Amino acid sequence: MSNTIVIFGASGDLTSRKLIPALYQLHAKGRLPKNTRIVGVSRSPFEHDEWRTSLRETTSKFAGKSFSSEKWDTFAPNVYYQSGDIKDAASFKTLAEFLNEIEEGKSTGRVYYLSTMPQLYATAVDQLGAAGLACEDNGTRRVIIEKPFGTDLATAQALNASIHNVFGEEQIYRIDHYLGKETVQNIFALRFANSIFEPLWNRNYVDHIQITVAEEVVIGRRAGYYDTSGILRDMFQNHILQLMMITAMEPPARYDGTMVRDEKVKVLHAMRKMTGGDFASQTVRGQYKGYLDEEGVPPGSQTATYAALKLYCDNWRWRGVPFYLRSGKGMSCRTTQIVIQFKNVPHMMFGDKSRVPMGNRLVMQVQPAEGIQLHFETKVPDAGMKTRTSHLDFNFQDSIGGDSLPDAYQRLLLDAVQGDASLFARGDEVELAWGIIDPIIEAWNSPAAPPLLQYETGLWGPPEASQWMFDQNREWFDVCPVIR
Ligand SMILES: NC(=O)c1ccc[n+]([C@@H]2O[C@H](COP(=O)([O-])OP(=O)(O)OC[C@H]3O[C@@H](n4cnc5c(N)ncnc54)[C@H](OP(=O)(O)O)[C@@H]3O)[C@@H](O)[C@H]2O)c1
Repeated sequence: MSNTIVIFGASGDLTSRKLIPALYQLHAKGRLPKNTRIVGVSRSPFEHDEWRTSLRETTSKFAGKSFSSEKWDTFAPNVYYQSGDIKDAASFKTLAEFLNEIEEGKSTGRVYYLSTMPQLYATAVDQLGAAGLACEDNGTRRVIIEKPFGTDLATAQALNASIHNVFGEEQIYRIDHYLGKETVQNIFALRFANSIFEPLWNRNYVDHIQITVAEEVVIGRRAGYYDTSGILRDMFQNHILQLMMITAMEPPARYDGTMVRDEKVKVLHAMRKMTGGDFASQTVRGQYKGYLDEEGVPPGSQTATYAALKLYCDNWRWRGVPFYLRSGKGMSCRTTQIVIQFKNVPHMMFGDKSRVPMGNRLVMQVQPAEGIQLHFETKVPDAGMKTRTSHLDFNFQDSIGGDSLPDAYQRLLLDAVQGDASLFARGDEVELAWGIIDPIIEAWNSPAAPPLLQYETGLWGPPEASQWMFDQNREWFDVCPVIR
């Protein structure tokens, strides 16, 4: 069966920067199923060739040295453009006719990628349904929904309900590009394809877990979006909770979309609800100095650009083990890391008694470079029985030689075409995630809110957040990329 990928939002940033380069790379590697057509849809007027020419330029820029003119020339003829307005039913009628024409009425799997403004997701899905474009009589029909999926629990529920009017859950692919990253998928391999980690991966050996998504950049000109979103909606409800679920989940019996997501969802069900004073004692919120001077930020805005949360997962594996989740703009560097901090040895009989070792630590770095670092104590040579912390490094890039790691969108687009939803969020998962984040947002907008701490850019967020950890006899792992 051949395939057609229809991208709504064809003239947009994501399409030219990520989607088309990813599809081109898949084609160049011979992974894109034969006879896959790509149809771009947006209101801007383009002729097919005009769009192809513009995409060639952007793809060669983003694909870098791996771009090959010859391969592009075999890819481009299958790329088409159809001008249309998502709000206009007639555009969908024209689109249906165009698709039938290029597919020559043959049985064809279709993937509709909604890479447009979130306010248009529900309308686009309604229109697809009304135009008969969701009907599976002549091949599979799937829809990929970009983030953000709702802005709170109520809007996510409404969006789910509206999409379910047209598509069944098994046809819906809610994207979180973090799940397409090699290191994130490697957490599955590390945990469930090795026997040495899993026995330690629990409350008996783990003191706590830290998940950090640090961005060096500030908001720049994105105030319009960012000031209404803030750090919790922007980073926690999606990426950080996804990383937490994969770190905390039980081993599924099989690696498939249902079983993997069942286990992830169980983690969310087990998350302890914050109540009363928890919002002040278990959350830290901050705003970088200068945020209020950014273009478009309303005077006196209380939007947080930094957050740290202490969450608990109340099940047999994790009872009593804190999960510290944090993210910030204007931080010391760009890095995403998951740190498994193991408990210290019960008694240290060696070396410098004044030095308390940290305990073993496993650092999984998701970006910028992807890799793993294991920290452990070793003897200092020629110094009696003094010990120090050493590390073993695994760098994904080194393991594949000169090639660069595939962008997350390659994996996710191919999975959607092939019908594997393991790395996409399910409807209940998204709603449960909002159910964790919503009460915190609500508390932060109430008198129960912790103070909005100011912090200098270029450091690790508010100094009070470090003190907060010290007060719990713990320390943030403030290390800029451990793997380069
Ligand atoms: N860019 C990223 O890096 C990124 C990363 C993660 C997630 N996302 C998500 O991906 C989605 C797209 O982001 P983007 O950055 O590509 O946005 P964008 O550059 O603003 O593009 C929006 C696209 O939607 C089209 N559009 C707007 N109104 C339309 C209508 N009524 N009918 C048909 N098409 C319409 C626009 O084209 P016309 O004006 O020509 O119609 C344009 O192609 C958003 O949901 C965003 O949150 C983006």
